[in-house]
Amino acid sequence: MTFVMNPLLYSAVIKQGKQLDFHEFSDAAASTTFGFPAIRTARFPGLSDKIQKSFLLLQGSYLNSLRRKMMENLQFVLKQDFLSAQAEGRENDWRQKDLYEFCERVMFEATFLTLYGRPPKTNTDAHLQRKSWLDALLDNFKKFDAMLPLLIAGIPISLLGRTKSIREQIIRFFHPHRMAEWTSPSEFIQARVEIFEQYDTLGDLDKAAHHFAILWASLGNTVSACFWGLYHLLSSPQAFSVVREEIFGMFGNKEPDLILSQDTLTQEQLDKLIYLESAINESLRLSSISMNIRVVQKDFCLQLNPHFSVSVRKGDIVTLYPQSTHLDPDIYPNPQEYQFDRFVENGKLKTEFFKGNQKIRYYHMPFGSGATMCPGRFFAISELKQFLSITLLMYDMQLTAGQQHATMDKSRAGLGIMSPGNHIFFRYRVDMQLTAG
Ligand code: HEM
Repeated sequence: MTFVMNPLLYSAVIKQGKQLDFHEFSDAAASTTFGFPAIRTARFPGLSDKIQKSFLLLQGSYLNSLRRKMMENLQFVLKQDFLSAQAEGRENDWRQKDLYEFCERVMFEATFLTLYGRPPKTNTDAHLQRKSWLDALLDNFKKFDAMLPLLIAGIPISLLGRTKSIREQIIRFFHPHRMAEWTSPSEFIQARVEIFEQYDTLGDLDKAAHHFAILWASLGNTVSACFWGLYHLLSSPQAFSVVREEIFGMFGNKEPDLILSQDTLTQEQLDKLIYLESAINESLRLSSISMNIRVVQKDFCLQLNPHFSVSVRKGDIVTLYPQSTHLDPDIYPNPQEYQFDRFVENGKLKTEFFKGNQKIRYYHMPFGSGATMCPGRFFAISELKQFLSITLLMYDMQLTAGQQHATMDKSRAGLGIMSPGNHIFFRYRVDMQLTAG
C-alpha cells in the first residue's frame, strides 16, 4: 500500500480516475460483506451503472422530499419517546440515557422510515408492534456492525460465530415480498427495487442484500456523527448557546411548541444555519478516520508533483488518509481542540484553508474524494442539521456530571466516523407542550 500523506499532493491521485480505481476494491468488499454476488460481471450487464445513477436520487431536487420525510419521522420518533414517558407519568422528569444509544435509536428508526417506508401494522397495539420489529432489526444490525471491520478486512464470515445467521435474518427482512407491502418508500429505494427487478439473474435474497447494504451505508457513519455533533455541543457551553440561538433565531419569537410542523426547517433555512454547519464540520473533522482506497489498474509512474513521482504496480493500493490532514497543525491550529466556529469566516462558511502559504483544496474529507465521494453526503448533512436542531428545540439537555471525556474507538479505523470508546450519559427533558399529533 502506498500512503499519500501530503494533502497538497492529493489532487494528483484524485484526478487519476482511470488508472486508480475505487470500485474494484469497494465492489469486492461490499459483495463479501453484505452477501450479494459481485455486480461488475457479465451476469449483470449495466447493473453497476444503473446503481450509480440511482445515487442521484439522494441529491438535488430529490433531497427536498427526503428532508421533509426525515423531519416528519424525527418528530414522530421523538414524540413517541415523550408519549411513552407520559404513559409512565414521567414526562416532566429528567431522564438519563446513554447518549450514543439515544442517537442510535432515534436515527435508526427515522432514517429507516424515511428511506424504506413503513411496514404494515400486523398487531392491534401499534406501539408494541413498531417496537418489536424495529428493536429486533436494530439488535441484529448492531451485532453485524460490530463484526463489519473484520468482514471488510477479509475474514471469512464462517469464522465469525453467529454473524452469518444474523446477516441472513437481516437480509430476509428486506425480502422483495415484504418490501412490496411497505408504504411510501423514498424515490431512491423505489428506483433500486425497479432496477433489481430487471435482472432475472439476481435472486430475491440478492436483491434484499443490496437493500441491506444501503441500510448500513445510511446509518453506519451517521449515528456516530450525530453522537459527536451532540456531545461536542453539550460539552462546550459557548458552542451550545451560539448554535441554539442561531436555531431559535430562525423562528423569531415563536413559542417552541408552535415551531414544530412537518415542514419545520426548509432547505433554505437549513442552509442559513452557518454556525450549526461549522459545528458539524468540526465534529466530523475530529472523528473521521476514513481511508480513500484506490486500486492500481496497470504498472505506471504516478507523478505527484513536477519533482516527485512514485512507481506503482498493477494491483497495488494507493491510499489517501484524510485524518492526517484533519489533524495537521499547519492547517488547523490546535488541531485536537474542538472549535465550533472554525469553519465560519465573515458570517459565511469558511472554505479557504492554507498549509504554509499554499491554499488547500482537500482540507475536509469525511465523505471521501473525487468522483467516488459519498453520494449520500448532502442527505447526511441535512439529517445531522435536522437531528441537532430538533433535539435542541425540543429538549433541555445536559451531560451527566462527573464523567470522563468521550474517547474514540479506533477499531473502525479506515471505515468512516469513529464511534465513542466509552459510555457517555446525558439527561434530558422536554422543554415544550407536546401532543400526540
Ligand atoms: C460511500 C462517508 C452517510 C450512502 C461513502 C464513503 C465515505 C462515506 C467516506 C466512501 C467514499 C470514497 O472513498 O471516496 C459517509 C459519512 C456519512 C455518510 C461520514 C455520515 C456522516 C451516508 C448516507 C447515505 C450514504 C446518509 C445514504 C444512503 C453511501 C453510499 C456509498 C457511500 C451508497 C457507496 C458509493 C459507491 O459505491 O460509489 N460514504 N457517508 N452515506 N455512502 Fe456515505
